[in-house]
Amino acid sequence: MTHTNLYSRIIGTGSCLPPTRVTNEELASQLATRGIETSDEWIFTRTGIRARHFVNAEQNTSDLALIASQQALEAAGVDPQTVDLILVATSTPDCIFPSTACLLQNKLGIRNNCAAFDVQAVCSGFAYALTVADQFIRSGTYRTVLVVGAETFSRLLDFNDRSTCVLFGDGAGAVVLRASEEPGILASALHADGGHADILCVPGRVNAGAIAGNAFLHMDGQAVLKLAVNVLEKVALEALAKAQLSPADLDWLIPHQANIRIMQGTCRKLGLPFERMVVTVDQHGNTSAASIPLALDQAVRDGRIKRGHHILIEGVGGGFTWGASVIRF
Ligand code: ACO
Repeated sequence: MTHTNLYSRIIGTGSCLPPTRVTNEELASQLATRGIETSDEWIFTRTGIRARHFVNAEQNTSDLALIASQQALEAAGVDPQTVDLILVATSTPDCIFPSTACLLQNKLGIRNNCAAFDVQAVCSGFAYALTVADQFIRSGTYRTVLVVGAETFSRLLDFNDRSTCVLFGDGAGAVVLRASEEPGILASALHADGGHADILCVPGRVNAGAIAGNAFLHMDGQAVLKLAVNVLEKVALEALAKAQLSPADLDWLIPHQANIRIMQGTCRKLGLPFERMVVTVDQHGNTSAASIPLALDQAVRDGRIKRGHHILIEGVGGGFTWGASVIRF
């Protein structure tokens, strides 16, 4: 049963970027050594990206998730032992199993046997995980939930394919949700269409101790672009209607940070000025499920997002999946 007066409030945020920052110029000169030509000008004009962060060989998704989670728990003033559920949205888990959420629980030193699982919805992963967490809180099942988006997409990139390897980066973002009678997450909408599975995928799998098929990221950029702008507008309006708000009521739009052209397209369709959109794609590239909580944490910490602000988060990604939430911060 859903308690109508129970909401999920974001009471703390955190994020982590691995220390190695690679600018477009640096990436272009690294690719040139492989005989592959690209430039800052090509990358920036088509995507808005100037730089991204990459993990080193020793760092895994759970390491980034750990730092983001510690920051979020600290900001929330929450004792890790009181967390009831850990959700990690990722498509780049440390290993096939156990889940990155279980690895994170152990790294956080949480010994209370709380539930922990991963959510796999690629770049929509954080929107999906936040909505799942909200259901557990609104039903009265759990009081405190840690929701993380964490990725090491650099592990999936073919650095011989200039059309994809310039687009992605690594990182993590986290939020702590707490049950409250004060409004927090107001409404959400989630969708998927598996009919578009092949336009953005990593089709490889493990079989008999070896990788079968292609384990590099494959993308049909034009097809993704067309689909993304269309579904992002629809799902934003759907979530806003459920929350009985209009785009004009929004203080901030935090879209998935894939490409500035897609983001500006959505902003324009919603009739919002670009200034009301949080943009990190220029500095982070596309960090998949980590991009929304990374951008949220940045805007909370620099003071742009304040208590009481209305925020729309929305994501779109492989699957195809897409989703949005309207939040009173
Ligand atoms: N540097 C230089 N040239 C390049 C590069 C590069 N890094 N990559 C591709 N090119 C070349 C191509 O080879 C092609 O050359 P040709 O005309 O001689 O064959 C030319 O640039 C144009 O290639 P297109 O793929 O048609 O380029 P397009 O204008 O479509 O831009 C892009 C590509 C930026 C990926 C675009 O399709 C796009 O924005 N798609 C959206 C996809 C996206 O953002 N995905 C992110 C992940 S999905 C998600 O998170 C939802």
